[in-house]
Order: sequence, then structure tokens, then C-alpha cells
Amino acid sequence: MTLSLTLALLALRAGLSLRRARLRGARRPAADLRRHLRLAKAAVVMIVIGFSAGPVSAVWLRGWDAFRTAHAWIALVTVGLYAATGVLGRRLEHGRSRAVDRHALLALLATLGAAAAFVAGFVLLP
Ligand code: HEM
Ligand code: HEM
Repeated sequence: MTLSLTLALLALRAGLSLRRARLRGARRPAADLRRHLRLAKAAVVMIVIGFSAGPVSAVWLRGWDAFRTAHAWIALVTVGLYAATGVLGRRLEHGRSRAVDRHALLALLATLGAAAAFVAGFVLLP
């Protein structure tokens, strides 16, 4: 999970450098876009896998009931935000949408959710 959150932060950084180039009116550098796409796709996939592993571990290894913690619900919202960011990102990638501001806003909300899940996850550590 720490690895996937690190990837997500690197993807955010690459995305923000695309945003700065766009707001300056410069052409977005192709290398930056490739970097963003590579990092962001890996991050979204890993976050979904990590999210799925959470309840499996809670139920099988810990003997808890699933989704009884605040962490689980924060994580559910967060994974939804990352998924929405990713779906819109793919539409941008293929030129089927131009809603870059909405993509950036979803990315920001997802990052805030991840920070909250991070904090709420610590009390669960054995
Ligand atoms: C499958 C996942 C994703 C894809 C395919 C994707 C695709 C893209 C594309 C194509 C752009 C360039 C838009 C343009 O200038 O035309 C972009 C920008 C951006 N992306 Fe992503 N993205 C993904 C996930 C993420 C994630 C996970 C984050 C951060 C948590 C993120 C943050 C950003 C930001 C901040 C921008 C700049 C938007 C702007 O110019 O205002 N993206 N993304
Ligand atoms: C690095 C920060 C995080 C830490 C330290 C952390 C820690 C934990 C721990 C200790 C558990 C209990 C599972 C067990 O030990 O058996 C757990 C469960 C879980 N985690 Fe995380 N987590 C973090 C981030 C995330 C994120 C970002 C997501 C998803 C977006 C997530 C999704 C879940 C889910 C869905 C559960 C199952 C909880 C339940 O069913 O009640 N976690 N996490």
C-alpha cells in the first residue's frame, strides 16, 4: 500500500507539471505525458489491488468483520475517487474528453482521501 501511494504521489507530481505547462500556454512535453500515464496507470491498478487485499486480510488473518472500521469507509471513497480519476484520464488520453480541470480536481480529492486513509490505517497496525 505504501508503494502504491508513493506511485500515486509521483503520478500526481507528473500530472501537476503537465498542468503548469498547460497554464503557461506551452505545449505539453510528450515525455512528461508518457511519464504521467505510466505512473498513473500503475498507481491506479495497485491501489485497487491493495484495496481488495484489505478486507481479505482483515477477515482471514485477523478474524474481523469486514468494513467495521472508519479506515475501510475512507478507503472505499478513496478508491472510488482514484477509479474516477483513472476513467476520466483514459478519456483524456484518447481525446474523448477535454475535462482536464475535472481530472485534476478528482486527482486532488483522491490524494486527500489517500492521506486520510493513511492516517486512519495506522491505528489498525498490529
Ligand atoms: C489511468 C489513469 C490516468 C490517466 C490515463 C491519466 C491521463 C491524463 C492525461 C492524458 C492528462 C493530460 C491532459 C491534457 O493536458 O490534455 C492528465 C493530466 C493530469 N493528471 Fe492524469 N491520468 C490518470 C491518473 C491520474 C492520477 C492518479 C492523478 C493524481 C492522483 C492524475 C493527475 C493529473 C493532473 C494533476 C493532471 C494535469 C491536469 C491539468 O492540466 O490541469 N492523473 N492525465
Ligand atoms: C499506508 C497507509 C495504510 C495503512 C498503514 C493501512 C493499514 C491497514 C491495516 C493494518 C488494515 C487491517 C487489515 C489487517 O491487518 O488484517 C487495513 C485494512 C484495510 N485497508 Fe488499509 N492501510 C493503508 C492505506 C489504505 C488505502 C490507501 C486503502 C484503499 C484506498 C486501504 C484499504 C483498506 C481496506 C478496504 C481495508 C479492510 C478494512 C475492513 O474490512 O475493515 N488501506 N489497512
